[in-house]
Amino acid sequence: MNDDFDIERARKDTRACEDIVHFNNAGSSLMPAPVADAFREFFDQEEMTGGYETADRNHAQLEHFYTATASLLNCESEEIAFIENATRAWDMAFYSFRFNAGDKILTTIAEYGSNVIAYNQCVKRFGVELVFIENDQHGQVDIQALENQIDDRVKLISMTHIPTGGGLINPAAAIGRVANAAGIPFLLDSCQGVGQVALDVKKIGCTMMCGTGRKYLRGPRATGFLYVQKDLIEQLDPPMLDQHAADLISPTEYVIRPDAKRFENWEQNFAGKAALGVAIDYAMSYGMPSIQRRICALANKFRDQLQDIDGVVITDEGLARGGIVTFTVANKTPAQVKTELANQGINVSVSDGSGSLVSFVQRGLTEVVRASVHYFNTESEIDYFAQNLRKIVST
Ligand SMILES: Cc1ncc(COP(=O)(O)O)c(C=O)c1O
Repeated sequence: MNDDFDIERARKDTRACEDIVHFNNAGSSLMPAPVADAFREFFDQEEMTGGYETADRNHAQLEHFYTATASLLNCESEEIAFIENATRAWDMAFYSFRFNAGDKILTTIAEYGSNVIAYNQCVKRFGVELVFIENDQHGQVDIQALENQIDDRVKLISMTHIPTGGGLINPAAAIGRVANAAGIPFLLDSCQGVGQVALDVKKIGCTMMCGTGRKYLRGPRATGFLYVQKDLIEQLDPPMLDQHAADLISPTEYVIRPDAKRFENWEQNFAGKAALGVAIDYAMSYGMPSIQRRICALANKFRDQLQDIDGVVITDEGLARGGIVTFTVANKTPAQVKTELANQGINVSVSDGSGSLVSFVQRGLTEVVRASVHYFNTESEIDYFAQNLRKIVST
């Protein structure tokens, strides 16, 4: 455990941790007080002074979302779009590509369900070929197998960094090296990575990345972002345009804006955008490497405890594992375990397989309990969780 981590501050700022044991950070984390307060304050101003007037008055705070996200990811603020969630952000990038019959999309076994639906839609619509790159013996994407698939037909490498239903952290930078060497665009779904692990788009080598606010970033719901590398922005024709994304210059002509805001909507969740900027500043005040170290240490300790409970099987894969801990219990369904834990004030969720279908089908899993830790969780909460799970398993 990194002893230098300011857990006292993290607990004090997390008002709900007095009352609940929240192990559902991969679902939606708890907003820290400064984030929730910023959201409320913005919302109150909207109520009392008007939505447009509040946006005008707080222009600098709203713009801060872009600079904060850019410094989190080590990119330029012009490369960031504010989008209401990771799925839509991903969609705006993915559906900007013009696929032709025979084009190949390379993806992972760990791929998020919505992305797999979108790929298959393009298989149906355009006749693209979808290739799931096999995992290696550790359960992470096999980089050699990825390299073997590279040819002139590959139009896009699109991969999930950390799956919704398991502890795996895919080797994003190794994927990026393959993509960059071949000059192929690389879309990284780091919905579960952002706020959990240190992300540097230059080191990773992704040309596009989506993220969400409410999970490991601890922002409000219905907030997210898309990063698109500047050389790629003007090559991408967004699937939908409005008069914020483009300028209508005559009844028959429009010009798409040159920055990543071409992927945005004019109407947005302004209170959420302001608060997400605060959430990113808040995460960075601890430092992403420090957050990552603490989450991984807590999750490893948690897995060690679960391993000792008869009847519990951990279902996480990967050489590198993060804060998402998944397991099954011999005599109970994941839904029963979730309910029984909730009765003891512990929040978890059930990954029912739709989000990780390709991987679950391959491994013969249907659903698992997902208990995801964040830096504000503690070792004593893990002990409390393990004690309760022991009782649940034995009844
Ligand atoms: C890997 C991954 N990608 C995308 C999403 C979708 O995120 P959002 O609900 O913000 O659209 C999730 C949500 O669980 C996820 O885990």
